[in-house]
Amino acid sequence: MTLIFAHRGSSKYAPENTMAAFRKALEQHADGIELDVQLTKDKIPVIIHDESLKRTTGVKGLVGEYTYDEIRCLDAGKWFSAKFKYERIPSLEEFLIWMKPTTLKLNIEFKNNILPYYGMEKIVYDLVQEHGLEDRLIYSSFNHYSLKEMKKFDPNIDIAPLYSSGLYEPWNYVKSLPAESAHPHWRTLNQFMLNGFKEHEIRVRPYTINDPKRMKWLFENKIDAIITDVPDIAFDVRSGLHA
Ligand code: G3P
Ligand code: MG
Repeated sequence: MTLIFAHRGSSKYAPENTMAAFRKALEQHADGIELDVQLTKDKIPVIIHDESLKRTTGVKGLVGEYTYDEIRCLDAGKWFSAKFKYERIPSLEEFLIWMKPTTLKLNIEFKNNILPYYGMEKIVYDLVQEHGLEDRLIYSSFNHYSLKEMKKFDPNIDIAPLYSSGLYEPWNYVKSLPAESAHPHWRTLNQFMLNGFKEHEIRVRPYTINDPKRMKWLFENKIDAIITDVPDIAFDVRSGLHA
């Protein structure tokens, strides 16, 4: 059965990459969560999409220019709606502690394709190990060097290169890393691509699938997972097919 990953949590209904969005995803029966990780000035992994704090907190500057204690004082919810005004930028550790008693899987996206965060891979790897969650993890990034780095710690780690343009025979590229999964933008997919991935036994989890017709097509093709802002809709579409 195709798994449903909530993109930045259930980000249509709650501010992206906050605990409110993650709780909502669980409530809406998502199988997993995709979230974005960066490092603070004092090298604490935190969950936020943009390198700049401006859009989601209103504060000037970059994530890496603030310490974790400073980041914790910012409001990451009120830009979305007054109802969420006390939401914080979560630390990855806070998230891992919350997810542990659930059955959720986790896709950590290293957000280091624009600004580098030296050492982030090892810091995150150690944290996941410390909490005993390695079996539930997928690591993705647009920075494929970063994914290669993860394989050095453990060759069995599931790494998934993200890409958004028309790569030629992407399964060959994925295998060359080597990786066993791909996270393509949905626009790059057609039946030829789905067949190619299947034939080469590469797991595919495209982003960001919010259209029910597209969901249905992907579910019917039995792809491994979709990444969506609306896990509730995906759950209904999938339940309809398995009814
Ligand atoms: O991991 C899928 C998706 O999140 C990649 O793009 O910009 O939403 O992090 P972005
Ligand atoms: Mg992401």
